[in-house]
Amino acid sequence: MSGRVAIVTGAGQGLGRAIAAAFADEGARVALLGRTKSKVDDAAAELTARGRDVISIGCDVADRAAVDRAVAETREKFGGIDIVINNAQGGAVGSSTPTTDLTDEEALEFFRTGPLGTLHLMQAAFPALCESEHAVVVNFGSAIGVRGAPRMAAYAMAKEAINGLTKSTAIEWGRHGIRVNLVCPAAWSPGAETYRDEDPERFERILRGIPLRRFGDPYHDIGRAIVALVSDDLSYLTGATLMLDGGQVMLR
Ligand SMILES: NC(=O)c1ccc[n+]([C@@H]2O[C@H](COP(=O)([O-])OP(=O)(O)OC[C@H]3O[C@@H](n4cnc5c(N)ncnc54)[C@H](OP(=O)(O)O)[C@@H]3O)[C@@H](O)[C@H]2O)c1
Repeated sequence: MSGRVAIVTGAGQGLGRAIAAAFADEGARVALLGRTKSKVDDAAAELTARGRDVISIGCDVADRAAVDRAVAETREKFGGIDIVINNAQGGAVGSSTPTTDLTDEEALEFFRTGPLGTLHLMQAAFPALCESEHAVVVNFGSAIGVRGAPRMAAYAMAKEAINGLTKSTAIEWGRHGIRVNLVCPAAWSPGAETYRDEDPERFERILRGIPLRRFGDPYHDIGRAIVALVSDDLSYLTGATLMLDGGQVMLR
């Protein structure tokens, strides 16, 4: 990853933080974007102390102007963008609302921070990606979107909207040499802990259903896997859905 520039959203905690670290450890220069500036500052300080070349930028991906500014700042600091990791997802992920009770506001919060945030960054980074020899976008779906889950309709809808955006742009941007893939992870994070605490029995059932019999490690199972996905070894892979979930969901 040496010489490449990655931009990672939601990089202040959980998977985003681990992914940013995995790219920085491989020699990429990384812009860590997050809604809570103190969290991305903290993550960036940890990486800088290890000698990594990173910056932190406070950025709510639901805010198009803020995303445009973050992309401009990244290009100014690092000279370009090769890798876009659309990891951020807001909304009440741990909550389980029966579909009959779902409000527009609850659903819209998932959509503003998930599919729209992903769209904002993809659009803002597009000119830089067109100039890159190694342009890759990684978006984030979920097993809950792929196969559905009771009382999770808002989250599932948002994640499948990201899937649609991923496939459409993989087709549209292929001619520019830009790969666009979807990752559906399962790994420990503050978000995953909230989901577990909401219904521990449900979580136990999920764990028992994972063929590899363990929940993923954010750095080794997700961050390192995404470095591999972005690498030139997988340069012919686009429009794909990669289940990084220990075999929990097997796609047909
Ligand atoms: N962990 C899993 O097992 C799992 C399973 C399936 C899918 N996923 C997906 O994987 C991704 C990462 O999950 P996670 O478990 O690490 O999530 P998490 O612990 O809930 O962290 C989400 C991160 O996204 C940030 N974020 C939320 N809304 C944002 C916005 N509008 N602008 C910028 N940043 C925003 C949060 O920042 P603040 O803290 O500042 O709000 C936080 O840093 C998500 O897309 C999630 O849906 C995870």
